[in-house]
Amino acid sequence: MRTIYVIAIVIVSLKCANLQFPPANPCPNLFQYIRDSTSGIIYGRLEFPNDCSGYYVLTVNMSVATILANNQNIDLRLKTAIDELTEGRDVIYDIYFPVQSILPKPTRIEFNNRVYCIGPPEQAAHCVHYVNSLLVPIQNLLIVLGKINIRDWANNAVIRDVQSSTPHPDYREQKGDGDIAILKLNKTVVFETHIQPLCLWQQNDDLNAIVGDNGTVAGWGRDETGNNVVYEAKKIDLPIVDQVTCLRSDPGFRLLTSKRTFCAGNLDGSGPCSGDSGAGFVMKINGRWTLRGVVSTALRNTGTCDLTKYTVFADAAKFRDWIRNALT
Ligand SMILES: *[C@@H]1O[C@H](CO)[C@@H](O)[C@H](O)[C@H]1NC(C)=O
Ligand SMILES: *[C@@H]1O[C@H](CO)[C@@H](O)[C@H](O)[C@H]1NC(C)=O
Ligand SMILES: *[C@@H]1O[C@H](CO)[C@@H](O)[C@H](O)[C@H]1NC(C)=O
Repeated sequence: MRTIYVIAIVIVSLKCANLQFPPANPCPNLFQYIRDSTSGIIYGRLEFPNDCSGYYVLTVNMSVATILANNQNIDLRLKTAIDELTEGRDVIYDIYFPVQSILPKPTRIEFNNRVYCIGPPEQAAHCVHYVNSLLVPIQNLLIVLGKINIRDWANNAVIRDVQSSTPHPDYREQKGDGDIAILKLNKTVVFETHIQPLCLWQQNDDLNAIVGDNGTVAGWGRDETGNNVVYEAKKIDLPIVDQVTCLRSDPGFRLLTSKRTFCAGNLDGSGPCSGDSGAGFVMKINGRWTLRGVVSTALRNTGTCDLTKYTVFADAAKFRDWIRNALT
């Protein structure tokens, strides 16, 4: 009588992956994707030679380019029956994935203290969810259009690569002035129900003309209950304040603002936060959604945005000519 220990550990990390099917697989000899012919479900299979040691300890690191809820785990199931293991049959595990639209890929497989394969090194901060466009090489950026739920972003989405990125030359880290970049996509996009253009500001760009008016901001950023991202985009209306009101409200704004930024906010703890940067501040002008600002920066309080203070927007109307030139 022999005791058999089977231990399986799966470690999933949030990383960006390519969208091709099957995803790049660093361990083709051990791991394969299988499509179940009746259900159509894609799962993974791992197969190891049986060393008859009686110990079966498997650790798989996988990465997936989406955000999983705590209960969305990868499910590892030992396929070989225990008595087959004692007979020396190969050790087979099936891996069931929590989402089908974006498949995880293995980055490291260790079995009985032997590392069988290691995926390519992960690059830091290359996920579209946590983009700081200055830090991310453009070949790691994907533009996903027409989607509202980021957990399901790859399904039926219009996806583009970024061909070039043109940041405004006056942009300096931490400041709102010039915090605008133009991304050129690798292919044209056809407008449809869920993909609609915003107009550039055509009117007078004097801020005083719109002080007190609301604009709308939408995004997936940190919410008021402390979640770093929300799965479905949320929107909020924020009133614009004049520059003097903003500057007087906190001396910290002197460093963040300029004549080409504006402040807006409800000061009630709601508003754009980390993860919403780059979202448009849009206003309905003559019946058309028009871009007035771009979420840029905020004062911070204990490591996150202080939403009892205003949010600073790059004033897109002041950059209209630069945007037009960059587009031609
Ligand atoms: C695999 O996961 C372990 C535990 O979290 C971690 O220490 C290790 O760095 C990971 N390896 C790779 C290649 O991701
Ligand atoms: C543009 O990028 C998308 C997303 O990566 C890709 O699927 C598509 O083939 C690319 N199109 C062209 C024309 O390069
Ligand atoms: C701005 O939005 C708030 C909240 O939705 C609303 O109460 C307020 O009346 C709006 N202000 C204007 C000027 O439309």
